[in-house]
Amino acid sequence: MADSDRPTWANSDRPSWADDLPRAAAILRRAQRVAVLTGAGISAESGVPTFRASDGLWEGHRIEDVATPRGFARDPRLVWRFYNARRANLRGVQPNPAHYALVELERRLPGDHFTLATQNVDTLHTLAGSQRVLELHGNIRRVRCSRCDYRADRQLEPLPDLPECPECGALLRPDIVWFYEPLPEAVWETAYLAVSQCDCLLVVGTSAVVHPAAGLIELAKHHDAAVIEVNLDQTAASHLADVSLLGKAGQILPQLVAASA
Ligand code: APR
Repeated sequence: MADSDRPTWANSDRPSWADDLPRAAAILRRAQRVAVLTGAGISAESGVPTFRASDGLWEGHRIEDVATPRGFARDPRLVWRFYNARRANLRGVQPNPAHYALVELERRLPGDHFTLATQNVDTLHTLAGSQRVLELHGNIRRVRCSRCDYRADRQLEPLPDLPECPECGALLRPDIVWFYEPLPEAVWETAYLAVSQCDCLLVVGTSAVVHPAAGLIELAKHHDAAVIEVNLDQTAASHLADVSLLGKAGQILPQLVAASA
């Protein structure tokens, strides 16, 4: 970044992450292979609620009721109402500067030297233009049959409370990975390999408490990669971070990516 492009802050406005930014940018600049792990926090500034905030998505819902195979077997109507409300909330939602900064970072790196693994099901990375996106927890636009192999992208169209499979008539379910379910095998293996091989793992907007996704951070450390964390607050993974940038992803990521060019 040219000196004239550097943001200047009055001392009182200077965010705490500004002091740590050059160190993180130097790590990112040196890295030949970069992996990114994102969570709900990266979409917060787009207006998508996170899960574990006091007004978050789990507030008022028992995870067991709306995000487990057992919950779906017990009361599919309740589960579909929950996901249909989330689908409706996504209409009109746009990616924010944090998503676009990751598109820019990907453009800089050759082919498989960049991998973006996301726990988000909102598809905002793809909408922003990211190419190599690994959706660890599925995709809320897609549905799949609870009995046969039918899968379809139904975008954000309104669905009935109990949508049926057009091929076999059984109940459709969101194509989302619920608690107690395995991650899609090929997606997980690709993410695991990318993180094992990266020089830098950038961890953005995740509380890092849900496994196996959060385990990718330890995996990166195990393979001597540097970890940069971007989050509003300290998280369960902060002790693994070489640099923690505490603040909003939509403000930090564009600066970080520009400063590492
Ligand atoms: N910028 C950066 N970080 C933010 C921002 C922001 N603007 N807003 C919130 N955060 C951070 C919060 O501090 C928190 O650490 O984002 C994190 C969101 O954490 P969670 O709500 O726990 O979301 P996530 O980590 O993605 O959850 C993981 O758990 O519920 C399951 O399957 C669901 O994929 C989800 C998984």
